[in-house]
Amino acid sequence: MSYEAFRGQQAGEHITVYRPEVVVLPSPEEVDQYAATHVLEQVTAKPNSVLTLPTGGTPRGMYELLVQAHRDHEVDFSQLIIFNLDEYWPIQRDHPSSYTRYMNEMFYSHVNIPPSQRFIPNGEAPDAAVEADLYETLFQAYGPPDLAVIGIGPGTTCHIGFNERGSAVDSRSRYMPLDPETRAANSQLFANPAEIPQGTITQGVADILEAHQIMLLAKGDTKAWGIQRALNGPIGPDAPASYLRYHPQVTFVLDKAAAQYLPGQ
Ligand code: F6R
Repeated sequence: MSYEAFRGQQAGEHITVYRPEVVVLPSPEEVDQYAATHVLEQVTAKPNSVLTLPTGGTPRGMYELLVQAHRDHEVDFSQLIIFNLDEYWPIQRDHPSSYTRYMNEMFYSHVNIPPSQRFIPNGEAPDAAVEADLYETLFQAYGPPDLAVIGIGPGTTCHIGFNERGSAVDSRSRYMPLDPETRAANSQLFANPAEIPQGTITQGVADILEAHQIMLLAKGDTKAWGIQRALNGPIGPDAPASYLRYHPQVTFVLDKAAAQYLPGQ
């Protein structure tokens, strides 16, 4: 469903709620394998796919497998268009904890995606609102992504991208202050935790929902509450990941720990 179709449903006061597919795998490594295989299938079926991609701890294994597939000549990434979900703001592009640096180190420096086809918000931009509008314009120019790979925030945040609690379903790319719970978790990834920026520039919820297909990856105990809340709690801004139930083509790929609070697990 396109976002326009979703808005049409809203206008008609009839919003369809879907049940995401839930895949529970025995180990985090199997989540990596499943995710990489799915991305490779997408790229093989449509080499010029537009992809939304995440950063963070969760997808590291997926990127390693994608790089390996490129080295083994299983796939050609040269026609892909990539939009990252988000970047801290403000942050230097070459800061060890920037998402620009993460993408270069985990993926881009190892594969053949031309720089002109890789997009990520500029953490060095002087004005976050202007940069977010520019990012949104570029995102719209390339059309809806064929596939969005996303994570979910830690603890009770339930964020997708950096759409923290309070985010609206029709939100677009914008500056978003980090939720205190996200700050506490992500500051551990900075050599000096106090250095974590106050905010981010993130794709909005509507940008994520615009993708034809969405694959959410989650591993570990710290994601269990949010996964259960997103799949079975009320849909709304208290848990932005719950909005994914407005989209007909969503797969949650979970390890056992992240799935532990789901009924039947
Ligand atoms: C990162 C992003 C975030 C993360 C989420 C989980 O680009 O958009 O939503 O996916 O914070 O992060 P990890 O994987 O580090 O637990």
